[in-house]
Amino acid sequence: MSEQNQTLFERFGKAFPAGTLLFKEGELGKEMFVVQSGKVRISKTVRDVEKTLTELGAGEFFGEMSILNDKPRSANATTIEDSKLLVIDPKTFEAMVRGNAEIAIRIIKMLSKRLDEADKQIENLLLKDHNSRVVHFLAHASKTGKQMPGGWLVSMTPVDIAGKVGLEVAKVDEVLQKLVRAKLATLESGGIVVGDANKLREFLEFLEMKEKFGDI
Ligand code: CMP
Repeated sequence: MSEQNQTLFERFGKAFPAGTLLFKEGELGKEMFVVQSGKVRISKTVRDVEKTLTELGAGEFFGEMSILNDKPRSANATTIEDSKLLVIDPKTFEAMVRGNAEIAIRIIKMLSKRLDEADKQIENLLLKDHNSRVVHFLAHASKTGKQMPGGWLVSMTPVDIAGKVGLEVAKVDEVLQKLVRAKLATLESGGIVVGDANKLREFLEFLEMKEKFGDI
């Protein structure tokens, strides 16, 4: 931990074991959190099923919406690893932003990244057929994936993908098998390796044509 982080942790830091429910959707929010170490899942409960919106790691923040908009929590937050978090009240948050333009810029960047991801998710959910949803998701996720010898690694399980694209796991598995047969992806222990995202996009265009004109 750097000296600056050490002092911040002394003032605002708290350690939470894995599995701690930090807050629930609908609760009143009185603080925001910055992840110093560990991992936090942001989720929503839709018809009794918990859906992951995102997982946040070191340097990322959450819980700012309630204090900025004065509204109840828009999602649940749970630690999924032992985590060290800065817990910041609205007054300190405002003072930090006013006193440091760099913090404000980081927040704006993070919020626009989140909006971009939400837009992509909306686009995905508007696709009608399940093949297109999985292919569209992988084409987008592989852009930020880790480069591997065979392509780009999307470090997610079929269960994670199913939660993101609103499909049953069996449907996601079915599409992944098709992609493997078409040599567009391989399944590895760490996730799904996409060989060539452009080919995946071409396949998506083909699926779109099929949706438009049907099987002739
Ligand atoms: P808040 O509404 O206070 O509590 C839930 C938090 O989850 C919210 O603030 C954001 O920080 C975070 N959050 C909500 N929606 C998303 C999303 N789609 N992606 C990432 N983080 C989110």
